[in-house]
Amino acid sequence: MTATAQTSSSAPALEVSLRQPTVADGAAIWTLVRESGALEPNTCYAYLLLATHFAGTCVVAERDGELVGFVLGYRPPTRPEAVFVWQIGVRADARGAGLGKRLLHRLIELPDAADATFLEATVGTSNQASARLFLGFARERGVACERAPGFESADFGPLEHEPEPLYRIGPLRKQETT
Ligand SMILES: CC(C)(COP(=O)(O)OP(=O)(O)OC[C@H]1O[C@@H](n2cnc3c(N)ncnc32)[C@H](O)[C@@H]1OP(=O)(O)O)[C@@H](O)C(=O)NCCC(=O)NCCS
Repeated sequence: MTATAQTSSSAPALEVSLRQPTVADGAAIWTLVRESGALEPNTCYAYLLLATHFAGTCVVAERDGELVGFVLGYRPPTRPEAVFVWQIGVRADARGAGLGKRLLHRLIELPDAADATFLEATVGTSNQASARLFLGFARERGVACERAPGFESADFGPLEHEPEPLYRIGPLRKQETT
């Protein structure tokens, strides 16, 4: 599945294609995560699992044959009405041109997410770019973005970690995109 990403009126044009990942994308996603400067890297193996077992709820963005963005999601087994964004990242040189939001719009249009009524994610309290991304996505869908307790610092045990409140966006099918 491919599509040309659109950009906001104030952003420079960004020609990328969006598609679901394959096993060949796992290591490149892992590299993007490590280069992001903001995402917690998991193992390469974890990204291989996401790119294969969970490809139905993941999207990658490609420009000139290189991966420049991704969103990794899944349907939480205990809340199948939601699609949960585990990680989303855009390469530094492709940021600020609307690609993050385009990845989220494409994610909820995938067949495996098309019946989800909420998009959820946890957002670290200091991550302004991520908060703005999800708020902007909710605004473009014309739906609410509610914040609820997600993971508290104490949940991370000995790791020093800021709280990660849960952002719950929806109901998604209230208004279809054009
Ligand atoms: C978060 C991230 C994916 C956003 O990607 P992006 O392609 O730059 O996002 P967009 O261009 O679609 O912008 C979405 C909104 O966020 C805002 N935004 C983007 N970067 C921002 C920043 N650094 N500071 C404040 N706002 C920012 C945009 O202005 C836009 O707001 P609007 O809808 O009100 O116009 C990207 O910054 C990134 O990869 N960061 C590192 C990884 C990360 O933190 N991921 C999220 C946690 S899982």
